Amino acid sequence: MTPVLALAGAGDMATAVAVRFAATHTVVVGDPRAANRAVTVEAVRAAGGTATEVPLDVTDPDQLAAFRATCAEAGTVTALLVAAGLGPVQATPARIVEVDLLGVVRVVEVFADVLAPGGAALVISSIAGHYLGPVAPEVEGAWAHLPFEELGAHPELSAEALADNPSLAYMRAKRAVQLRVRAAAGPWGARGVRINTISPGVIDTAMGREELASPHGAGMRMLLDAAPLPRVGTVEEVASAAAFLLGPEAAYITGTDLIVDGGSVATALLPPAPAT
Ligand SMILES: NC(=O)c1ccc[n+]([C@@H]2O[C@H](COP(=O)([O-])OP(=O)(O)OC[C@H]3O[C@@H](n4cnc5c(N)ncnc54)[C@H](O)[C@@H]3O)[C@@H](O)[C@H]2O)c1
Repeated sequence: MTPVLALAGAGDMATAVAVRFAATHTVVVGDPRAANRAVTVEAVRAAGGTATEVPLDVTDPDQLAAFRATCAEAGTVTALLVAAGLGPVQATPARIVEVDLLGVVRVVEVFADVLAPGGAALVISSIAGHYLGPVAPEVEGAWAHLPFEELGAHPELSAEALADNPSLAYMRAKRAVQLRVRAAAGPWGARGVRINTISPGVIDTAMGREELASPHGAGMRMLLDAAPLPRVGTVEEVASAAAFLLGPEAAYITGTDLIVDGGSVATALLPPAPAT
């Protein structure tokens, strides 16, 4: 059967990844926005591939079940990209936790027995998860391992703890996603399937541009300017990393996070030189 790439969230990054797979995979495109689905489907078709689309809000279990069924009917699912997300200027803290963490985790759980042995999943996290800084080990342990039904009720993810701060919600959601994927690597590996995250820096997408134009933009530009490669990244650069992690060249890589950010995190979080 034709291999299938399942896309949960079909924004600009996901579209660039889908085009990389157009020659080899049928692409099933899930996103709540019809316009975004149409752009991705059209891009795959323009690259000579086959794509179908399904309305998908990752927080809606019924839509997710329908998306899963469409993917399984389309062929052998060998690749899953979870690129659904809302940025800090796009949503409330509660909705960011719902979509960027709980919705993303729900996709991973629903697809756990869908991918064929030899396949791979990739979840898009963010450098925001790294810039969150140290988190108590017991909190990280809870985020990594709590059953899905209890994760959303974790005190550090509550409305009170997030204090109307969408950036904090985004950072915690993205850190928690990295941890969930690390925790999933064991059981997924037992089925012969790999799972990783990518943490992009500031990338030239609808979301990236909106964040840069917001009041957070000045701080983001300072981080960009201080990076070894001081510029915004492109969706093609993320797609190259994604194609690698989803493909056979990464056959021994699972449970890891690949930072694609021009070196921003590597240098900003490097411990300072000892005082002389
Ligand atoms: N652009 C950046 O600078 C940047 C940096 C780091 C991480 N990211 C992450 O990359 C991923 C892809 O974002 P992008 O940059 O391509 O932006 P984008 O806005 O083009 O794509 C995000 C997509 O997620 C979809 N989405 C929103 N809510 C959803 C829901 N409930 N269910 C399913 N899909 C939903 C949107 O409709 C959109 O198509 C996101 O997880 C984002 O947090 C982006």
